[in-house]
Amino acid sequence: MKILLIGSGAREHALAAAINRSPQKPDLYVYASSMNPGIADIAVDLVTGDITDGDTLMAWVGRRKFDYAVIGPEAPLETGVADRLWQAGIPVIGPTKDLAQLETSKLFTRELLVKHDIGGCPRFKSFDSITGVKEFLEELGDLYVVKANGLMGGKGVKVAGDHLHSHAEAIEYCESLLEQKATFVIEEKMIGLEFSVMSFCGGKTLAHMPAVQDHKRAFEGEEGPNTGGMGSYSDVDHGLPFLSATDILEAQQLNEAVAKALMADFGKGYKGIIYGGFMATADGVKIVEYNARFGDPECLNLLTLLETDMVEIFQTITADELDTAEIRFSPKASVCKYAVPKGYPDKPLKGFPIELGENQADALYLGAVDLKEGQLVGTGSRTVAVVGLGDTLPEAEEIAETAINQIKGDLFHRKDIGTQALIGTRINTMRVLRKSH
Ligand code: GLY
Repeated sequence: MKILLIGSGAREHALAAAINRSPQKPDLYVYASSMNPGIADIAVDLVTGDITDGDTLMAWVGRRKFDYAVIGPEAPLETGVADRLWQAGIPVIGPTKDLAQLETSKLFTRELLVKHDIGGCPRFKSFDSITGVKEFLEELGDLYVVKANGLMGGKGVKVAGDHLHSHAEAIEYCESLLEQKATFVIEEKMIGLEFSVMSFCGGKTLAHMPAVQDHKRAFEGEEGPNTGGMGSYSDVDHGLPFLSATDILEAQQLNEAVAKALMADFGKGYKGIIYGGFMATADGVKIVEYNARFGDPECLNLLTLLETDMVEIFQTITADELDTAEIRFSPKASVCKYAVPKGYPDKPLKGFPIELGENQADALYLGAVDLKEGQLVGTGSRTVAVVGLGDTLPEAEEIAETAINQIKGDLFHRKDIGTQALIGTRINTMRVLRKSH
């Protein structure tokens, strides 16, 4: 069996490792933006190219007769690479361009939620000019978020209090989006704690994964600029310590409602990962955003915990038979920490050497790295992730923290991710919020 994986970050390294564990022993081929030596070690062949360029990619695919293709990042979903592969008869894990709007258009998703009366949607308005922006901001007061439509490399969302400190600044940001020919949505800012629930989606059937919490800020104590995500954790019971079972169920039901709505509107099933970004609020679970792929770092936890054959999951998703798959995750706590270049995310170092040492992590995934004359070097983004598993969160955290300290280079990481101290503050915040309601 031949599987094509598209992408080259730590998420794709974790996917490659999960595919490699399959008892079906598939041959893995990778079409990547860069040479990730962690993935190359697993793959039969890794070629580099523009992963968003369907023509070049399909020319390379040629007559290779892949049995399945899996698309890691969002950019090739936006350009319709899944459509091209399906047209060539290759079943794909990753939605077609129209369904990927779930991630690529903020407005598409908000309108889908409203049309199908799916709960958890904050007040919002869409804009393609500055008309009405001032009035809507005045209606929302200090609680607003501006979201650019389209993929902006994680930089399109600006939140009041975090990135925008006055209506004047918000209007200036909206004007800069209009100058870039981007439309945008302004939403009510929700107060609470964010978490992620991802589901495998095989058209009509969903299989939910454990809840995970990511950490977006660069520095300890939730300080500093937003990043792609500095690390994440999940708990033994597949919930999160600050969430109730009802919160998790609500999030899963929202993912189910979204899949059903897509099926109703497009007459075809979504095949891939539905990644719900949620906010636990005093007033229940709200939807922050949807993504159309595995979250990174969240999937580094999840794919390390996954016990079921990944290839069997691909087979059942693409054949509309996900209901026949018994998907299991190890009943362990997991903590993932990313080592990132000094200066990340604003002015990251590039081209510096990295030594992994004798790493004792339960899993180690390479991200933004390259191999130069046999030396592993960092290329300027999230560099190496380690995952610790344990019977408790403190055990998992200790493994991840010890492992990340063994990696040498001009890197830093957040020591607080997965610690009892930080998780304690989350539990407390949620308790206070729920009481205030
Ligand atoms: N965890 C953030 C993302 O994958 O977009």
